[in-house]
Amino acid sequence: MRFVTTRHPDPASGVASLRTAMLEGLAPDGGLYVPEAIEPWQRHELERLGTRTLTEIAYRVLRPYTRPDLDATTCEAIVAESLNFPMPLVEVEPGIYALELFHGPTLAFKDVGARTMARLLASLDSGDQPLTVLAATSGDTGSAVAHAFHGVPHTRVVVLYPEGRVSPTQEAQLTMFNSEDGNVRAYAVAGSFDDCHRLTKEAFADAGLRRRVRLTSANSVNMGRLLPQMVYYFHGVAQAVQQAAPKEIVVCTPSGNFGNLTAGLFAKRAGLPITRFVAATNANDVVPAYLEHGRFEPRASVQTMANAMDVGHPSNFERMRWLYNDSLEAMRRDIAGCRFADADVAVTIKQVYEERGYLMDPHTAIAYMGLKAHGEMARHKGRIGIFLATAHPAKFGEIVEPIIGRPIDIPPALAEVMAQPRHVVKIQASADAVRRTFDD
Ligand SMILES: Cc1ncc(COP(=O)(O)O)c(C=O)c1O
Repeated sequence: MRFVTTRHPDPASGVASLRTAMLEGLAPDGGLYVPEAIEPWQRHELERLGTRTLTEIAYRVLRPYTRPDLDATTCEAIVAESLNFPMPLVEVEPGIYALELFHGPTLAFKDVGARTMARLLASLDSGDQPLTVLAATSGDTGSAVAHAFHGVPHTRVVVLYPEGRVSPTQEAQLTMFNSEDGNVRAYAVAGSFDDCHRLTKEAFADAGLRRRVRLTSANSVNMGRLLPQMVYYFHGVAQAVQQAAPKEIVVCTPSGNFGNLTAGLFAKRAGLPITRFVAATNANDVVPAYLEHGRFEPRASVQTMANAMDVGHPSNFERMRWLYNDSLEAMRRDIAGCRFADADVAVTIKQVYEERGYLMDPHTAIAYMGLKAHGEMARHKGRIGIFLATAHPAKFGEIVEPIIGRPIDIPPALAEVMAQPRHVVKIQASADAVRRTFDD
């Protein structure tokens, strides 16, 4: 499969291999890479979906996009190694299901994209020098990337995070590999997230450094992170078919940068029977607002409880527009938008916990509410709803515990990480200090 850009979708304007698309991240024209074509699944394959395992589905989803760059055996090994944790569909109340994507090593859905991307990159890259992934993080992405690349041959990771401005859980997850002789290093920068972001940009623009070190990024617009996210939509529908044989399925995706939803839209375009999507946001609602009045008006983000979705200018909207040929009407046929305030999030977490015994993190709660608010759920018999549970509630203990008034059970893997001594490595917020990290 070849990749084109959203700005010049005509293949005559140039195409990239998966390897190039992944190493570059953003296309040279400033657009986002998209597949030249989204191949539809055959009817018989979709009919048998309910009998397929996660690994079989993942292989089938990714194979067209990795051909001819990767051989079949490598592709199979990559999905088996990357997606080695369950993604169960759990019925929370009649007809309403959570697709739990938080059973990976950093307890969030980002593990799916980051782990697969790490292994794809390692297999596709043919350079002599190791590839160094440089990432700035406000907390979550950095730990998913660090875990994903840890131990992956021929790769190195440098993560910059703002000292004293990530949660204790995030810092423990970020720094857990620092003590080893491994390929991952996280640095606490004396500055803000914006400083970290600026320093990574300066490093990418530093010609001298780039002659010495092969740098790449692993940010969320990268095709290598997006394509694997299609897998769990297929896996979710497969489990729904097994459990409930529904007539129709509506999926609600909690959205910030809209990569997660875009992957679902790709899956639908490939033939996955999802009747409609609900895009649920926090107060950062530029896409729901676009669906309402047809104007896309990015603005500065506002801070909310579901902070990983505090995005005022969602990058992947450009891919959504490409997918619908810039037709608002076509997009509206597939997607309904809604937004929720922090007060609603708190009430819902408490209520669902008390009435159903199901505990959600703030992002997941927004997805649950999106499904419930979507009027069509109630009107159609035989329709079920799936909401994506994108993070384990223990990742957001500081928010969730006061809402439910009791401590949360910490998953054993996280408890173990939290108990480790922390190996924080501090650096100044300067380009020189960052340059020196590459010699560590
Ligand atoms: C826990 C959680 N849920 C939902 C999202 C939204 O995903 P996206 O940014 O792809 O829309 C994020 C994004 O970082 C997240 O961390």
